[in-house]
Amino acid sequence: MGLNFVLLLVMVATNILSLYHLSSTVQSPNPPPPVPVPDHLLRQLNTIRATINHLTRHNPSSSSTTAEPSSAVPRDLILHSQIGPIASSCHNHPDLLHRYMNYTPFSTCPYDPDLQETLILNGCHPLPRRRCFSRTPSKPPSSLPLTHFPTSLPDSGVIWNKYSCKSFACLSQNNPTGFDLNAQRSSLQKYTSELDLPLTQFMQLAKSANSPIRLGIDIGGGTGTFAALMKKSYNVTMLTTTMNVNAPYNEAVALRGLVPLHVPLQQRFPVFDGTMDLVRCGRAVNRWIPLSVMEFMFYDVDRVLRGGGYLWVDRFFSKAVDLEKIYGPLIGKLGYKKVKWAVANKTDPSGLKHGEVYLSALLQKPVSKS
Ligand SMILES: *[C@@H]1O[C@H](CO)[C@@H](O)[C@H](O)[C@H]1NC(C)=O
Ligand SMILES: *[C@@H]1O[C@H](CO)[C@@H](O)[C@H](O)[C@H]1NC(C)=O
Repeated sequence: MGLNFVLLLVMVATNILSLYHLSSTVQSPNPPPPVPVPDHLLRQLNTIRATINHLTRHNPSSSSTTAEPSSAVPRDLILHSQIGPIASSCHNHPDLLHRYMNYTPFSTCPYDPDLQETLILNGCHPLPRRRCFSRTPSKPPSSLPLTHFPTSLPDSGVIWNKYSCKSFACLSQNNPTGFDLNAQRSSLQKYTSELDLPLTQFMQLAKSANSPIRLGIDIGGGTGTFAALMKKSYNVTMLTTTMNVNAPYNEAVALRGLVPLHVPLQQRFPVFDGTMDLVRCGRAVNRWIPLSVMEFMFYDVDRVLRGGGYLWVDRFFSKAVDLEKIYGPLIGKLGYKKVKWAVANKTDPSGLKHGEVYLSALLQKPVSKS
């Protein structure tokens, strides 16, 4: 039964494009003239429709939450979201999903980056595929910065419509959401508090443990400064997960010549098991993340790290009592070697008010015995 279901899904998924293509319910301002459909395609289409009906009948969450509320959206357009490899959370937000999947096929996609961000942050990731052309800046940059630390980034690499700032200069001046190409650079290069782990020291520690560092992921890496430093100083390739919260972080990382991954914290890392030498969690990983999300995240970090690889927790903050009772034990369950474990009071107003502390830790994954 399980295998049949998978085969069915594969069959349907590979045929879905032809289904869309043949479907006549799609609304388009200039509907193409009908072309005669060969018999074998019609038979195939009927099989696909029957299969999909079968599947959706056996998918209670999709039929109960998405079928009725927005009958304005042609069912065909949201079908891919029901059978494609997307998170079931998409169907927990039928209105957003319907808005996202309401577009005119084969034309330019609606400009809806906020809607996409909202869906992703609600766990609807990966987003369903669409058959429209995504917008790109109208005058793409004709040259790109030669360094990972350029004094400026080309503004023409971003569609600015949805932001109040219309340039990178404006973003770094107004610094609305910590948008700064040099953010945390000093704490990664100099030791000024016990929470700091300068890169030279980290690389030295790894070297003396015979643990070469070449590939990694920086979780919640903002504009990619950590990846930039690792590349520039040590030829280490870091992927940077980053969301576009109120600023074009993904574009900034890309314009620096680094790889942005547009994935939320609850998303499985799109890399294979045991392939990373280092995973770093920046300040985006903190007590505001639901505990269950965090637990799954740490186990996914463990999945992608190779034996002997490092988990670097950089300035994780939480209430002192929670670090002791909840987060410390959670991290401890990974069974990693504590190379560094430094806790210090968080002394900004919010930290003082809530009795918060920072944790900076470097943990090494053991090499498995089998
Ligand atoms: C990085 O790699 C390039 C090309 O292999 C080499 O020329 C450069 O010296 C390396 N830089 C560092 C910091 O290792
Ligand atoms: C940190 O804060 C706690 C409680 O707020 C206080 O008792 C402790 O002395 C502080 N530690 C340092 C090193 O300031």
